Amino acid sequence: MPTSAALAAPTRYDRVARALHWSIAALILAAFALGLTVDAFPKTWKYAVTELHKVIGVTILLLVLLRVAWRLGHPVGAAAELSGGMRRAAAAGHAGLYLLMLAVPAIGIAFSLLRGQGLDFGFAAIPPLMEAAARTVSRPVKEVHELAAYALIALAGLHALAALWHHLVLRDSVLRRMLPEH
Ligand code: HEM
Ligand code: HEM
Repeated sequence: MPTSAALAAPTRYDRVARALHWSIAALILAAFALGLTVDAFPKTWKYAVTELHKVIGVTILLLVLLRVAWRLGHPVGAAAELSGGMRRAAAAGHAGLYLLMLAVPAIGIAFSLLRGQGLDFGFAAIPPLMEAAARTVSRPVKEVHELAAYALIALAGLHALAALWHHLVLRDSVLRRMLPEH
């Protein structure tokens, strides 16, 4: 039985939710691409590329926290055409995406701290908060950061395919809910 709040919830995402969704998606792709290719850059670039990766990653974490707070304050009803099973599948997928969007940058920060690194914005810098830990400690954290990033990209890929399938095959309102109104 839906609650009165759920009945009153709008059936599309507002401007703030849409702006956060698309900017976070673009930043995740950028952070992933930089993380994977950091070793392909000339040695003299490696520091700058790693710091850019970290600054983008920290920005993602802050935007996701803002997004969760916004989402909790602005409920959105499920698309009207969806069956109960589809609603549950979408809710589980979205919960997994939120979890990984928080976990990947948080583990990245843990790895960076364990490596004894600070954060260099170019115009300002946060100094290292601790001495570098032994590689036997930091290495597994790097592996988990990488694996969790792959899981995030794989789930986001499935999610994007599902959105396109709704739009192009089922021809329902799901993708339009996340697009500008006109
Ligand atoms: C959603 C955000 C993020 C994504 C998708 C992401 C993804 C990745 C990927 C795919 C790698 C390559 C891993 C490997 O080759 O072993 C990587 C490396 C790394 N990440 Fe992230 N990351 C994110 C956020 C962060 C944050 C917030 C930090 C720290 C502040 C961070 C710090 C690092 C470091 C230090 C490396 C190693 C780079 C090197 O080889 O020198 N990451 N990341
Ligand atoms: C890294 C990439 C992405 C991530 C992490 C991501 C994450 C999310 C999350 C967590 C939600 C749930 C929003 C909420 O209810 O609070 C969502 C909704 C949505 N996303 Fe994405 N997304 C990504 C990329 C995409 C792409 C590429 C598309 C389109 C091709 C897309 C289409 C949608 C649509 C249509 C919704 C609304 C679904 C519904 O109302 O049931 N997303 N996304």
